[in-house]
Amino acid sequence: MDEKDIELFNDSIERCSAQPEFLTRFYTLFLASSDAVARKFERTDLRRQARMLKTSLYIMMLASEQTERIAHLSRLARLHSRSGLDISPELYDLWLDRLLQAVREFDPKFDAEIETAWRRLLLPGIDFMKSRY
Ligand code: HEM
Repeated sequence: MDEKDIELFNDSIERCSAQPEFLTRFYTLFLASSDAVARKFERTDLRRQARMLKTSLYIMMLASEQTERIAHLSRLARLHSRSGLDISPELYDLWLDRLLQAVREFDPKFDAEIETAWRRLLLPGIDFMKSRY
């Protein structure tokens, strides 16, 4: 993975998550994106879930390296798979889209280069999670 992308992604996460509303804003957008998503989180403590998002983003960053992917994402992929939380692959596209919307709103330096860095860092992990559905 390109060092420049990692730096852009990492700095952007820091700028966003310096504002506590960033994490809750993402969940507000994500839950509103589809009834299927809202149903999945009906019994979830969203404050706890929002706190976990930042950690998830770092896990995804590590998992962007092919050699690290299985080690970092196997458990999470199994948890989200058909036999677990049953998260169908198209819901990951909503996850990414609403996440980028939240980043766009909260990162004062957001631009096309930063958006590309987020996509490059997150897509390998997302594709892995989908492939293990
Ligand atoms: C690549 C994207 C995603 C990442 C990195 C991610 C990460 C996580 C993590 C770290 C947890 C907590 C696991 C634990 O408790 O050990 C979790 C739980 C969960 N995720 Fe995801 N997730 C992703 C995509 C999705 C999508 C697309 C959905 C669709 C609705 C979803 C729904 C859930 C639900 C329902 C839970 C359980 C919440 C609860 O404990 O009540 N996730 N996810």
